[in-house]
Amino acid sequence: MTEVAAADLSLFNTLALPGRAARYARIVTADQLAARAFSEGRRFILGGGSNLVLSGDFDGLVLHMAIPGKRLIHEDTDAFYVEAGAGENWHDFVQWTLQQGWPGLENLSLIPGTVGAAPIQNIGAYGLEVGEIFHALTAWDFEKQAFLTFGREQCRFAYRDSVFKQEGWHLSGRMAITSVVFRLPKAWQANMRYADVTQELASRNIATPTPRDIADAIIAIRQRKLPDPAITPNAGSFFHNPVVDLVLADALARDFPTLPRYPQADGRVKLAAGWLIEQAGWKGKNLGPVGMYEKQALVLVNRGGATGTDVRRTMLAVQADVRAKFAVDITPEPIFL
Ligand code: EPU
Repeated sequence: MTEVAAADLSLFNTLALPGRAARYARIVTADQLAARAFSEGRRFILGGGSNLVLSGDFDGLVLHMAIPGKRLIHEDTDAFYVEAGAGENWHDFVQWTLQQGWPGLENLSLIPGTVGAAPIQNIGAYGLEVGEIFHALTAWDFEKQAFLTFGREQCRFAYRDSVFKQEGWHLSGRMAITSVVFRLPKAWQANMRYADVTQELASRNIATPTPRDIADAIIAIRQRKLPDPAITPNAGSFFHNPVVDLVLADALARDFPTLPRYPQADGRVKLAAGWLIEQAGWKGKNLGPVGMYEKQALVLVNRGGATGTDVRRTMLAVQADVRAKFAVDITPEPIFL
């Protein structure tokens, strides 16, 4: 499809915020990206819109990544290498790999969004981050006017972070990821690093889970805790879990003994932002049409009719209250356009 003028973006972001793009094109093949018109002016690369806060109208070009396709590209004695187009729905892709008998992605079931967006913020849940089973990706570089390949090292994955965020390539629209290859080891082991998963399987009397059992357990946990964007618009976790130095973590633990703490490899400590927000009084609380979800305080929800300005107001109020009570800064996870 070629470019069209003035597209409504409210259906393309899971917070259901209003906004229009001055220019818009749906991308269904990688080669379309080389069109000269797409290199001019401001640009935003849109995936599933599940990690996005629209501030209002966007006076530029939105390239909506809808490249389809999923296939086994290689198999060796140790692993399956599976490729998917950037526009594939993440959850559907994960379920398809399980059906094919290529497990490894099951812990990331039911995460909203697209395959192409997954590496950008290194999506993670229930003891697995996508970087751990990532092999390579292809991206169109609008500056170099060429397709580039990134291996795992080049992606510089970290907690909810990658080279695409670190270098600002995502926000500037410099790179559009077109396809991703995952390496799924044949020696499969159930990943039950996360206590909730172990508990859910125990409650189902499953001692030796299959990949499908793990996926089903995770789907059930997510459905219990997280709001369905089709019913209650949201963008998943709205803040990162903050990582603080040991001195502050120890001081907080003295004052708040039940504060969940996760020691990191570098000696620092990750704290549960959802807990901090709940203790700051925000669980189930609204400011205007935007609130923090009653079953998971880390999830910001649009109660109906909110704008980007409303989201920002609630975000700032939550951050201020957490800072006042705990001296901890929490930063937003979504991209602001
Ligand atoms: N907690 C509270 N109150 C709340 C929410 C959480 O006290 O309202 C406590 C929980 O009791 C638990 C701890 O905080 O002790 C952690 O909560 P949870 O297991 O729900 O996970 P999370 O840290 O809030 C992270 C990810 C999620 C991911 C889950 C499961 C981030 C920013 N979020 O949430 O990812 O699904 O772990 O692995 O790292 C997302 O990024 O959009 C997302 C949903």
